[in-house]
Amino acid sequence: MSKVTVVGAGNVGATVANVLAHKDVANEIVLLDIRGNFAKGKALDSWQQAPIDYYSTKITGTDDYRKTKGSDVVVITAGIPRKPGMSRDDLISTNANIVTSVTQSILKHSKNPIIIVVSNPLDVMTYAAHKFSKLSNKRVFGMAGILDTARYRAFLATELGVSPKDLQAVLMGGHGDTMVPLPRYTTVAGIPVTEMIAKDKLNAIVERTKKGGGELVKLMGTSAWYAPGAAAAQMVESILRDEKRIFPCCVQLTGQYGLKNIFLGVPVQLGKNGIEKVLELKLNKTEMKSLNKSAKHVKDVMKVFDNMMKKKAKKK
Ligand code: NAI
Ligand code: 2OP
Repeated sequence: MSKVTVVGAGNVGATVANVLAHKDVANEIVLLDIRGNFAKGKALDSWQQAPIDYYSTKITGTDDYRKTKGSDVVVITAGIPRKPGMSRDDLISTNANIVTSVTQSILKHSKNPIIIVVSNPLDVMTYAAHKFSKLSNKRVFGMAGILDTARYRAFLATELGVSPKDLQAVLMGGHGDTMVPLPRYTTVAGIPVTEMIAKDKLNAIVERTKKGGGELVKLMGTSAWYAPGAAAAQMVESILRDEKRIFPCCVQLTGQYGLKNIFLGVPVQLGKNGIEKVLELKLNKTEMKSLNKSAKHVKDVMKVFDNMMKKKAKKK
């Protein structure tokens, strides 16, 4: 028996629940939102899709945390998305309060869930959820790398005229413009991508990937949801099926890559215990330099969060 709660029934949350239901891997999905009956409506719509698309996962919606009791996995998508001209970091003051309060409410009803954070700024919101949950760092992590890698792979598939299915890649670092796509670890059906594309074209795709989220915000006036929702659902699937798949996820580093006390995207294995293993690639000097630059940026935003929490504690 497995139960998944998705907090936030907006664009991303509703997509996570819907994609996950299609995978038929959970017995039950609870979609929770503070917007009155909104989650109820989204869940009912998804449940009415079940006879058409053949899945049995029961989806219900609520605004009451008691209904989340005994969740095995919780995906947090609650929070505001960015608007054109905003960076993910601009969301911190609103979303930090939301993510910390959601985490505390979840833990009143589920003892030891695995928590996947999606809300932005992703790396720091994952740090916040971990800090406030007091759960093991194997059980609190964030979704960003699967999405960013998918964008990179999709751009490459278009450029090369190949199926996206044949692209494999790794990407590391924070979920922002300092992220680190790794062409050295990118293959097309096993063939190094560098043998298939000119350097300047590859560089242009790397740069487009880094700003991939912003490109969609400009097009739509809000951030993306299909690929982000599918990415989070894929993480839940690997956990519930104990597949031990390897994905880039935002995790707490404890010395890997020479970094500690930070939440950052690195390749990990996901299974029934959450993070089963953190993989350490042998990065070259240039790659390591980019990773350190990204880590510095994330650390700066973590400090902003810490100062916010200190001020809040003083006011009490
Ligand atoms: P949205 O506005 O469509 O949905 C957010 C939902 O959260 C709303 O329905 C709202 O009522 C709900 N909410 C707000 N406060 C809440 C609370 N305290 N408890 C429960 N629900 C609450 O936004 P969207 O597009 O779904 O994005 C959600 C978040 O995910 C944003 O912060 C966005 O930046 C982030 N995001 C992260 C990605 C990633 O790669 N990590 C990718 C895409 C979005
Ligand atoms: C994205 O990358 C905004 O983080 C969100 O689409």
